[in-house]
Amino acid sequence: MRIFLDTANIDEIRQAAKLGVISGVTTNPSLMAKEGRCDLKDVIQEITSIVDGPISAEVLSSDPVDMIEEAQQISSWSPNVVVKIPVSAAGLEAISVLSRKEISTNMTLCFSLNQAILGAVAGATYVSPFVGRLDDIGHDGMALVAEIVEVFEYYGFSSQVIAASIRHPLHCVEAARAGAHIATVPYRVLMQMIEHPLTERGMSLFAADWQRIARGSSQ
Ligand code: G3P
Repeated sequence: MRIFLDTANIDEIRQAAKLGVISGVTTNPSLMAKEGRCDLKDVIQEITSIVDGPISAEVLSSDPVDMIEEAQQISSWSPNVVVKIPVSAAGLEAISVLSRKEISTNMTLCFSLNQAILGAVAGATYVSPFVGRLDDIGHDGMALVAEIVEVFEYYGFSSQVIAASIRHPLHCVEAARAGAHIATVPYRVLMQMIEHPLTERGMSLFAADWQRIARGSSQ
């Protein structure tokens, strides 16, 4: 499973990129607003200068003709930009046109297997089921990821599944077990994935033992 960072925060992206574990970034209008930024092109171009992988930027239009126009603009910003398009009739129309033009798309706000199948058939490069938001309303978000992966494999669909709306480290474990191609994770969750109390305790013990033996040999 590949890891994308789900943020529009440039500092977080720089920090995460140093770890060598991030192969893409996803943004959305809410993440942009959180950073107080509305200069999408500048943000996306800054991110592409840090991460050499797929960078998702979302359209704001709702009409298919406008969506296609906006998507073409966005995709011209950099070769690794992926256009994020919400599931809707207009969105599917846009995805199918963009797919024929070989423009990469990420079908977002996916909450059902039917939506995922339609996205794959329309030619979406990525399909993003929102795990946390389904959990929030008492549905099993990860069960949807597993269903989508199974059906895509059965039919040989080429769309990749991005487990999105990830809220905690267990979601990452479950996404990997479900066979998601990618999990897009907030920076906080990425840091939590690294941590284990036994690793920290083990490092303290190693350091203390080394200090003791080093002190003893210098006396
Ligand atoms: O990748 C989608 C993500 O940004 C949504 O996450 O936590 O707002 O449901 P959340």
